[in-house]
Amino acid sequence: MIDLTSALRQPDIDTALQDTLLALAACSLDIGRRMRTASIAGVQGSAGQGNVQGEEQQQMDVIANELLKQALMAVPAVKAVASEEEDHAVPAHEDGSLIVAFDPLDGSSNIAINGPVGTIFSILPAPEGPVSDAAFLQPGTTQLAAGYAVYGPATQLVLTLGDGVQVYTLDPDSGRFLLTTERVHIPATTREFAINMSNQRHWAEPMQRYVADLLAGREGPRKKDFNMRWVAAMVADVHRILNRGGLFSYPWDGRNPNQAGKLRLLYEANPMAMLVEQSGGAAWTDCQRILELQPETLHQRVPVILGAAGEVARCVDYHRARPGG
Ligand code: F6P
Repeated sequence: MIDLTSALRQPDIDTALQDTLLALAACSLDIGRRMRTASIAGVQGSAGQGNVQGEEQQQMDVIANELLKQALMAVPAVKAVASEEEDHAVPAHEDGSLIVAFDPLDGSSNIAINGPVGTIFSILPAPEGPVSDAAFLQPGTTQLAAGYAVYGPATQLVLTLGDGVQVYTLDPDSGRFLLTTERVHIPATTREFAINMSNQRHWAEPMQRYVADLLAGREGPRKKDFNMRWVAAMVADVHRILNRGGLFSYPWDGRNPNQAGKLRLLYEANPMAMLVEQSGGAAWTDCQRILELQPETLHQRVPVILGAAGEVARCVDYHRARPGG
């Protein structure tokens, strides 16, 4: 089996990108190892503070963030990093050619229940000049690579460099990531969706109508029964979609009118959108392709609808169709 190092150490892959991805892989191995022993080491609970998003931080959020910062800042090619757990961009090497945005531990409320969590990352070209938050405000189409590590029964690294999506599985005995899926493919149609149904009453009317039609099953307009899944960790829900298809959404909702959605554009929606599109799927807000959005702020949130291309298109159509129009 091919391992990640030999797959990446190729003459046609920029060495800056190789070094950065291998540093991310080594760090995810370390994070995965610490996840497995977090309760023994006494670092499983809350950190007792909030992050810049006003969300409660887990001790493992803080640890994973520090490990990733250290690992990436040791790579000379990295000019700056941005993290869910940092208020602003953190400068690294002035003459680096890449910048990296990451969510160190997505879905960290799952830690307490020994459920899957993950690390999501997005690698962008570094603009000229001094680093500020503005350096990261690039549309997702400029991403050079994107991926995530999922810490479940197996630690897997899912990666795209813009030519398909590969899955590497950690062999815990050798510490090597081995290629287990060469090219991920998401079927265009599906009978499965993922959404937090408890927010239904807060969604916009088109989303309510779309999901009501799914729930109506065989007797409804869709004329087929749908299954529902919700892991409450985007990494794990997207991982399921890459493996067996489906639609995932965290839509706009009316609970906080100043907030466009829950998921963050730069280190959640964009990298996942690149992975999904590279697997033949689609990734939209309710009205726009996610990868074409011009980010306005570092921690911007967006509505997300991603997965099976045909199903995403259908869901977006509900948002386009105006009643009586
Ligand atoms: O990053 C936010 C996140 O944890 C995602 O990983 C996940 O999809 C979502 O929030 C879960 O939200 P909720 O708690 O509403 O189910």
